[in-house]
Amino acid sequence: MAKDVISPPLIDIQQVTYKYPVKRTMQDHNQLVTEPALQNINLQIQSGEYVALLGHNGCGKSTLARHCNALLLPDEGNVYIAGMDTRDVTKHGMIREYVGMIFQNPDNQLIATLVEDDVAWGLAVKGYPLPQIRERVAEALDAVNISHLRQLPPYKLSGGQRQRLAIAGILALRPQCIIADEASSMLDPFTRQELSELFSRLHRKFGLTIIQVTHLLEEAVYAQRIVIMERGRVIQEGTPAQIFADVERLQELKLIIPDPLKLVVYLRDAGFAISNQALTIEEIAQEIANA
Ligand SMILES: Nc1ncnc2c1ncn2[C@@H]1O[C@H](COP(=O)(O)OP(=O)(O)OP(=O)(O)O)[C@@H](O)[C@H]1O
Ligand SMILES: [Mg+2]
Repeated sequence: MAKDVISPPLIDIQQVTYKYPVKRTMQDHNQLVTEPALQNINLQIQSGEYVALLGHNGCGKSTLARHCNALLLPDEGNVYIAGMDTRDVTKHGMIREYVGMIFQNPDNQLIATLVEDDVAWGLAVKGYPLPQIRERVAEALDAVNISHLRQLPPYKLSGGQRQRLAIAGILALRPQCIIADEASSMLDPFTRQELSELFSRLHRKFGLTIIQVTHLLEEAVYAQRIVIMERGRVIQEGTPAQIFADVERLQELKLIIPDPLKLVVYLRDAGFAISNQALTIEEIAQEIANA
């Protein structure tokens, strides 16, 4: 379907504030402390966008992600998913069909004793007919490149393969959006990179909306937009090139500077004119070769 520039956002977060249930302080047991985990968040994500949600531990990324499929409801403000208000409980089923989530530990999402049965599970529960289940399972396994593992038990798969399996289980349900909440944090750097590339491919190939939640700048290079959070607020937004251009600001935010960006800084100091568009080692090498 052709994209309409004036179509409403798939995810529309309007002035959202959220506080977790209260803790009591040591100083005053009667004094209730209500530190909001989200403070007046405004964020719109268009259908087909690829957004990286970035920030330190405890800044509110997961809390915000959970608002996007009605696992949490705002105390103040509104969240609309494809126009559906998450406060409307009758829409929760539909909202969760639109927005699928994958988490840090894939094992929490794997159920069946065979890979292909695991992908089929969600479809079977929804009562899809067998031929359609078979077709969607094959398609989803192919999309994440683990078709050859279909007859294995999930425990025989590596961590990266199990995370792909969890993604296939969500893909088979054909969501509009996948939110990956630190989905790569249990993986080694190489497998992490592969997972980021997979999200990028799913975004390009299927026009899927992707929200990649991470505290690592290097995982955000494939996104179209980076949204940075701090202490429950969105404090900065921009394309990867815009965000990476201000290294001092990134250091101020105490984000770990990725190696390619360190190299860019070093090369610029040495007199090479490297543009802000060069975010990966390959792109940097290309610019030097073209100079
Ligand atoms: N279930 C909970 N009950 C009470 N407070 C919570 C709960 N979950 C999170 N918080 C608090 O809310 C704030 C935001 O947490 P959240 O998990 O959303 O951050 P995050 O950016 O996802 O962090 P991380 O990088 O560690 O995953 C933190 O101060 C956290 O301690
Ligand atoms: Mg989190």
